[in-house]
Amino acid sequence: MPAPALIAQLEIPVSTTWGTSHLLNQFDDLFHDFLDKGGPLPPEYSLLNRAIRHLGDAVRAGVVAKDEVSAYIQDSTLRHLGGTMQAEALERKYGYSGDFEIIDHIYTRHTHPDPKLRQWDLYFHAQAAPVAVRNRKAYFQDLMQAHLSSHRGPAPLEVLNVASGPARDVREFFQNHTQATVRMDCVDMDAHAIDYAQRMCAPWLDRMTFHHRNVLRFVPTRGYDLTWSAGLFDYLSDRVFVHVLKALIAVTKPGGEVVIGNFSDYNPSRDYMEVLGDWALIHRSRETLVSLAAQAGASPDQVQVFWEAEGVNYFLHIRR
Ligand SMILES: C[S@@+](CC[C@H](N)C(=O)[O-])C[C@H]1O[C@@H](n2cnc3c(N)ncnc32)[C@H](O)[C@@H]1O
Repeated sequence: MPAPALIAQLEIPVSTTWGTSHLLNQFDDLFHDFLDKGGPLPPEYSLLNRAIRHLGDAVRAGVVAKDEVSAYIQDSTLRHLGGTMQAEALERKYGYSGDFEIIDHIYTRHTHPDPKLRQWDLYFHAQAAPVAVRNRKAYFQDLMQAHLSSHRGPAPLEVLNVASGPARDVREFFQNHTQATVRMDCVDMDAHAIDYAQRMCAPWLDRMTFHHRNVLRFVPTRGYDLTWSAGLFDYLSDRVFVHVLKALIAVTKPGGEVVIGNFSDYNPSRDYMEVLGDWALIHRSRETLVSLAAQAGASPDQVQVFWEAEGVNYFLHIRR
């Protein structure tokens, strides 16, 4: 049970009947069925996914108020799913969605020690979005490997990593390429993320510099062969996207590459993220990404869009 103080903070009645919405009551029945049996099992995921999509559709159609659904989800999560990934998403421990800690818990498939809660975490990790996030870690490593292989001369491969978060992707790269001649600048606006990343990458700090800065106001300017950013641009409006992308293109060397990750317009777990996790991102199509790249000054022959195996994360590549 959550502390009574937490329930009081929600300022909603402690009741099991939810508002006027029949749909929400139906969802609550289903949720309690799953709670009683110790969480969803893989063959049941599609049933629960469908129920979540119905809720998402109902909110979009104005049949149920978003605030009512959010209050219900917050309350049910606090009461029954404390310490799970879903609770962590809602808690926003560091004040915003998608902090370094939850991203690292996605990378490591963190699960609750209690078997009944663990099943909810396994359900979380099976969603398309967490799978895509794990895939993008592999994408980064393949990209680094490709740049390293084509890099010529004795100078190190210069890399700028914007919104570096936990830096588990960097750690795994160095673990697999211990002798790699790489110099990496990492920028992140969260001091906790910087601390954590420095611990993750402790053996390679001689090759890394961390900048505790907001990239909207500061971009290091050393000149980079590869400029990478994942998990940031899907929070930026189009105007800010173009502004930051322009700055990143400007610090990338001729012949170098800027690669930007952004959630795609195909995300089967979007309702799960938005309804259960209150985690809203700006999903973008390939056409939109190409158009934003053009607005940032890239010509069509410089631009390509690729994706990881789920198709849920796009990667905008701009060759300089
Ligand atoms: C979703 S995580 C992504 C981390 C990492 N790139 C990855 O893919 O594993 C987002 C990170 O962006 C950082 N961030 C968000 N807005 C930022 C900004 N304006 N400037 C610098 N960092 C920012 C957050 O502090 C967080 O660590």
